[in-house]
Amino acid sequence: MKVGVVGAGLVGATAAYALTLRGSCSEIILTDQNGARARAEAQDIAHAAPVSHGARVGSGPLTDLRGSAVVIVAAGANQKPGESRLDLLQKNAAIFRELIPQVVAAAPGATLLIATNPVDVLTDLTARLAPGASVMGSGTVLDSARFRHLIAGHAGVDGTHVHGHVLGEHGDSEVLAWSTASVAGLPVADFMAARGREWTPEIRAQIDADTRGAAAQIIAGKHATYYGIGAALARITERVLGDRRGILTVSAPTPEFGVSLSLPRVVGRGGVLDTIPPALTGPERQQLERSAAVLRDALAALD
Ligand code: LAC
Repeated sequence: MKVGVVGAGLVGATAAYALTLRGSCSEIILTDQNGARARAEAQDIAHAAPVSHGARVGSGPLTDLRGSAVVIVAAGANQKPGESRLDLLQKNAAIFRELIPQVVAAAPGATLLIATNPVDVLTDLTARLAPGASVMGSGTVLDSARFRHLIAGHAGVDGTHVHGHVLGEHGDSEVLAWSTASVAGLPVADFMAARGREWTPEIRAQIDADTRGAAAQIIAGKHATYYGIGAALARITERVLGDRRGILTVSAPTPEFGVSLSLPRVVGRGGVLDTIPPALTGPERQQLERSAAVLRDALAALD
């Protein structure tokens, strides 16, 4: 199946690379305003195909997106040191207003997977610009992975066997759902106690800070993040292409909150198939309400 990637910058190109290495699809088309960049990235990634799972990797104008089952949209500016994701809103929204109608015209029926930040508000804007289309954002899939990775380090187990969701905004107001985080079916604190692993309020607070602050920490060191988000986009895409019905905290329009934000959702062919109301403590629910309010304010500020 064919996947389009709009925006051949670090995130888009890395997502295309991840799709190639993982054998997620049979064809990938990269498109970018900078055609030479798209061509070079596609050529470089195509050289990985014969020594991985193989895929036809090419580049071209937006019209070459036709036939794509999923189109990943990673076009726009990314955070600079000290910049919040919401600071990018007006600039990237202007790009989207011109871009999204062209993407829909080129690939009608494709599921649109938004990666550009602020991803939640741009997911909402995309849904408005593409009425009836299947639209979701990468949301906090990456944040949930970071959360699980950090817990795994203290638990002494592989992060793929830690369950934990980050909800709400992919940003400063995100909610770490500690009350439902678990390892081997045990709440995190119980698992640590059962295995004699150190676990203190300070460790938990550090995991919270490092989950929220991961992007800023990485950007301070190398000016951008792309490996984590690239793999997250590939994982989401695979759930759609294979109708795998995986549960991922993708961002999607959520009437209960009047805005797009991340909740646990069943992802398969056609995009978001269902939303699973998370079991939250009172304080966690209040944090989620606050996160939704931050996003509603941002959405209202759209020119
Ligand atoms: C990050 C970017 C993708 O969190 O927002 O790394």
